[in-house]
Amino acid sequence: MAVTDQPRSYAIRTYGCQMNEHDSERIAGLLEADGLVLADSDESADVVVFNTCCIRENADNKFYGHLGRFKTLKEERPDMEIIVSGCLAQKDRDQIAARAGHVDVVVGTHNVHRAVELLHESRRNGPITEIWDEALDDEATFPSALAVRREVDWSAWVTIQVGCDNTCAYCIVPAVRGREISRPFGELLTEVERLSADGVREITLLGQNVNSYGRDLTSARRSLEPSSEDAAIVGAQWLDDRRARPLFADLLAAVSNIDGIDRVRFTSPHPKDLREDTIAAMASNPSVCPHLHFPLQSGSDRVLALMHRGYTAERYLEKLAAARAGIEDLAVTTDIIVGYPGETEEDFERTLEVTAAAEYDSAYTFIFSPREGTEAADMVDQFCDPAAVADRFDRLRVVVERSALAKHMARIGRTETIIVEGPSKRDPEVLSGRTSQNKLVHFRSDRPLRSGTLATALITDASPHFLRGELVEVLSVSRHRTRFAVTAG
Ligand code: SAH
Ligand code: SF4
Ligand code: F3S
Repeated sequence: MAVTDQPRSYAIRTYGCQMNEHDSERIAGLLEADGLVLADSDESADVVVFNTCCIRENADNKFYGHLGRFKTLKEERPDMEIIVSGCLAQKDRDQIAARAGHVDVVVGTHNVHRAVELLHESRRNGPITEIWDEALDDEATFPSALAVRREVDWSAWVTIQVGCDNTCAYCIVPAVRGREISRPFGELLTEVERLSADGVREITLLGQNVNSYGRDLTSARRSLEPSSEDAAIVGAQWLDDRRARPLFADLLAAVSNIDGIDRVRFTSPHPKDLREDTIAAMASNPSVCPHLHFPLQSGSDRVLALMHRGYTAERYLEKLAAARAGIEDLAVTTDIIVGYPGETEEDFERTLEVTAAAEYDSAYTFIFSPREGTEAADMVDQFCDPAAVADRFDRLRVVVERSALAKHMARIGRTETIIVEGPSKRDPEVLSGRTSQNKLVHFRSDRPLRSGTLATALITDASPHFLRGELVEVLSVSRHRTRFAVTAG
C-alpha cells in the first residue's frame, strides 16, 4: 500500500432495502472510526464496499455486473480494496470469492461489525470470506448499537428487530437475515433520545415484521424474576405482564412522545399481524405519520394461501378499512407480486380488484423471481409464461396509477406540512420535501432552505408519483449541526 499524507477514502454502494441502507451507515461509521474519509466517487475510492441484496434475481445480476467493472479498476490501482457485504454475500458465501478473485473481504449479515477487522486481516493474510450462520452476540444482533455515519442528519433509521420468523414461500429474507430478534425496549428509547438531542426530528422504525416487535422479548423473560436489568430489556411497565405479546403499539407511543421527534415512521407491518392497538397508537399520537405500508402481495385467496401469507383478501380489506376508519387522512402503500407460480388469469383479476378496492397511494410491483432454497422456487412446472406476466404487470400499473393520481389530485389546494429534503434531483432550482403521508412535493422557494427544515406548502399540481406546490411558511429550521459521526447505544 502506498504511504501518503492523504487519509484513505471509502465509498459504499448499497442495494436493497432500508435494513441494508442502515447497515451501510454502520459500515461507514466503522470505516470513519478507522480513519477513512468519504471519497468523491466510487471509482476514486481506496476502499469500495458493495452492500448487496438478493431479494430478486435482478438484484444479484446488478451487483455482479458492477463488481465485474471494478476488476479492471483494481488492475489499474492494485491498492484499491473491495468489501462485499449484505444479503447476497450471506447467500452466495464462498461463491463470491470464487467468481471474483479481486474481492478482499466477504462479510455476511450477522457479522457486519467485523467488516473493518476483516479488512485489516486481509491486508496481512490475503482475501477472506467470513459468514456467520447467526448473530452470536448483541453487537452483532442489533445494528443500531454501533457507531453510525448517518446519510441524512435530521432523519434516522432505528432497527427495532432483525430477521423474520414468517415463511412466505417466495422469500429469501428469513434465510439470509435469520430468526426474528427484538431489540430491548429501554435501549431503543435511549437511542431515540440521543438522536433527538443530535437534532434528528424524524425516526423510521425498521423491521421485517414490525407488528410482532417484542413478542420474543416478553416470552424470553416470562420465567425470570423482575430486576432492573429486565426492566431495561422489556420496559418497566411490562414486568408484571408475563404474557408473550407484541409491544409495537407501546413502542410507537413511547418513541413519538420523545421531545424533538416530530415524525415517526415505520416499515413494514405484516397484514396478518396488524392489531387494533397499533391503529389506536397511530391515531392517538400525532407525531406518528398517517402512512401505512401494507403489503398485499396478491388479491387471490388461492395464491395468498400458496404464499403462506396468513390472510385472505377479505380479511386484508377489513383490516385496511379499520385502519382508515381509525386514522385520519391515512395514506396506504403496498407491495404486490405478479406471476407467482400457478397464478392464473382469474387469480390476477382478483389482484386487480383488490388493488382497485384498496385505493393505494402508491405500490411497489414486482415480477416473481425464483430464489433458490425457497419453496416457490421449486414450483418450476407452474412458473407463468413471461409474456403473460409482462402483460399483467402493465395492467396492474394502470390500476395503481389511477388511484395514486386520484389521491394526489385530491390534495390540490391543500396546505401540507413538509420536511425539506434538498434540491430536486432533476432541477436544482426546485426544492423537494416530504409530507407526513410520505408524499414527495417539489416546490420553488425564493430563498435557500436547509434540509430538515419544517415548512408548509400549498399544493398546486399532482402526478401519480409526486405533488407540486409553493412554499407558504417556514415553521422551524433544522436543528441539526453539520455532518458528524454518531456513536449510539
Ligand atoms: N418484510 C417485508 C418485505 C420485505 S421484501 C414484508 O413482508 O412486507 C420486499 C418485497 O419484495 C416483498 O413485500 C415482496 O413483494 C417482494 N419480494 C420478496 N421476494 C420476492 C420474490 N422472490 N420475487 C418477487 N418479489 C419478491
Ligand atoms: Fe419475507 Fe414474508 Fe418475512 Fe416479509 S414477512 S421478510 S415477505 S418472509
Ligand atoms: Fe434485500 Fe436483504 Fe433487504 S435481501 S430487500 S437487502 S433484507
